[in-house]
Amino acid sequence: MIRIQDVNLIYGRHTERETQALKQINLDIQDNEIIAIVGASGCGKSTLLRLIAGLLMPTSGTVSIDDEIVAHPRQDTGIVFQAPTLVPWANILNNTLLPSSIMGRLDDQARSRATRLLTTAGLGNFLHHHPKQLSGGMQQRVAICRALVHNPKVVLMDEPFGALDALTRETMTLELLRLWYEDPKTIVFVTHSISEAVMLGHRIVVMSPRPGQISEILDVNLPRERDFSLVGTPEFTRCAAAVRELIFQHEVA
Ligand SMILES: Nc1ncnc2c1ncn2[C@@H]1O[C@H](COP(=O)(O)OP(=O)(O)OP(=O)(O)O)[C@@H](O)[C@H]1O
Ligand SMILES: [Mg+2]
Repeated sequence: MIRIQDVNLIYGRHTERETQALKQINLDIQDNEIIAIVGASGCGKSTLLRLIAGLLMPTSGTVSIDDEIVAHPRQDTGIVFQAPTLVPWANILNNTLLPSSIMGRLDDQARSRATRLLTTAGLGNFLHHHPKQLSGGMQQRVAICRALVHNPKVVLMDEPFGALDALTRETMTLELLRLWYEDPKTIVFVTHSISEAVMLGHRIVVMSPRPGQISEILDVNLPRERDFSLVGTPEFTRCAAAVRELIFQHEVA
């Protein structure tokens, strides 16, 4: 379980550019839960993910995973950033295998998992291509495969589908849900898309603008097995309307 307790994050502390990005965040995320995080640009969503990833330490408060304080990146965590951040000189297969390589686990099992993930993501014919030979959306799909290659317990995704076209975005959403049914993991998913949050999230965390605070946590009472036929059902519509209202209320304020 991920536990975020009394977390505050101030960038550029004691300088003129001091920015309080997160204020008094408290959140418990259960094992194998999919949590969607939504909120206006600049409200601290990426900052929160970086804290869970151990890439940043809170100014005060704690983030723990399974009762261990997160003080550095953990091997059981995978992260997909807003931009694909691939290594330009390595081919797609080796980019995907990077976490396995860093962890000293570059074996046949890792290679076949990477190949399987890339094939599922529609990149089976591009294993030996380099990032610059791929479109932005294809590169982001490689970044998603890279985050999953070492089969982490926790996957942190920062608007992973933001650069994809609408069709690929829906396919990847279904693919992520399928991966989760086959092999459940804890997923923290940041998105600007309200319908994506409802489609994926078991709960939706709505954040208020700077300094980022949690304004509400909504339960999504849809079945765990989901597909796009749920769009337009009363529960889907209720959740989407509730999130929209919470976000809009802050914008008006
Ligand atoms: N490295 C940094 N140094 C100083 N300020 C930062 C840094 N990173 C983020 N900030 C500030 O912290 C606030 C939150 O930023 P963050 O990137 O977490 O927002 P976000 O919710 O992910 O936004 P977006 O939806 O646009 O990606 C912003 O005001 C931003 O300017
Ligand atoms: Mg962000």
